[in-house]
Amino acid sequence: MKSALRLPKGAVRPRAAVMAMAPYSPPTSNRRGKLRLDFNENTVGCSPRVLAALKDSLEGDALAVYPDYGDAREEIARYFNVRPSQFLFTNGTDEAIQVLVNTYVDDGQEVVLLKPSYAMYRFYAEAAGARIREIVYPRLGMEFPLDAVLAAITPETRAVMLANPNNPTGTGISLLAIERILRRARKAVVLVDEAYYEFSGVTALTEIGRVPNLFVSRTFSKVFGMAAMRLGCLFAHEANVAFLHKAQSPYSVNALAVAAARAAVQDPGYIHNYVAEVLAARELLCFGLEKLGIPYVPSSGNFVLGNFGRRAIEVRDALRGQGILVRDRSYEAAGCVRITVGTREQMRCLLAALEEVWNA
Ligand SMILES: Cc1ncc(COP(=O)(O)O)c(C=O)c1O
Repeated sequence: MKSALRLPKGAVRPRAAVMAMAPYSPPTSNRRGKLRLDFNENTVGCSPRVLAALKDSLEGDALAVYPDYGDAREEIARYFNVRPSQFLFTNGTDEAIQVLVNTYVDDGQEVVLLKPSYAMYRFYAEAAGARIREIVYPRLGMEFPLDAVLAAITPETRAVMLANPNNPTGTGISLLAIERILRRARKAVVLVDEAYYEFSGVTALTEIGRVPNLFVSRTFSKVFGMAAMRLGCLFAHEANVAFLHKAQSPYSVNALAVAAARAAVQDPGYIHNYVAEVLAARELLCFGLEKLGIPYVPSSGNFVLGNFGRRAIEVRDALRGQGILVRDRSYEAAGCVRITVGTREQMRCLLAALEEVWNA
């Protein structure tokens, strides 16, 4: 798609890859005070321990110095059960994707992606000038299209980007399928983005020491309720991590984000309780959608993709009118709206509003 932006007279022309990109601006404004079921965030906020740690960190002397990641690296490694040399802190998963692309993908090289999936894979691949090979999730059930992905991988493929579970479909990829992709794509790096791992329980992280082309990302933006802090981790065999470091700015993660993460991993009970609440709420939401006759894709994440057909935009706008934000995805999956799962109380509130809108 060509960019709609105009180049002012006399301005320096950006790289061709950037000129060709469509602007991407997620609807992050005017969300305060609303029921935010539009970004798959934690809908109740982070652990109180995180807030306390942040307050403790707000001290002039601490803010005056560049971040030192040393102790945090040890603690976070312990939480994820890896060695400190097997990961890097990143400015959200987004920087993990960027660093991976910058390390391995040259202009004109091929990247395999899925559609619909998380937008930032395409974003960074396009910015790098990569050739994109896109595999479409089948409309019915939106199950991971393993055979099509395997068929798309050739010796030319440099990177394969997978979200497990996938956003916005909510569908997962089995470890067996990931293993087959890793074997087929021996000459490519394979990212398994596990932003929603805590809701699905399926992880490839245990394999990073054994499989040299496997990269796994995790984030503090979702279950931990820290999206504003922008912190993620990119895990891989330690030999790969040394190269990833070369392509990353040394201080892209700020000290407050790291302090917050250290506190967050000290409070695993908070996360477990939130996951249990979301799983119960997800059942409630799916049951409610079924009762209203709205088809949906069974999800392994903290969100559900519903098919509202021709009424997708109308439903989104009517819910917004009632102070409830959901995300239209019909531009990539016709008729579909994604609903973040929060607490059972929040789902009851959503379903009551939805019933009114749907039956109007
Ligand atoms: C699959 C997936 N990965 C990563 C992210 C964002 O992660 P971060 O906030 O860590 O950059 C999202 C957010 O929606 C997502 O859906």
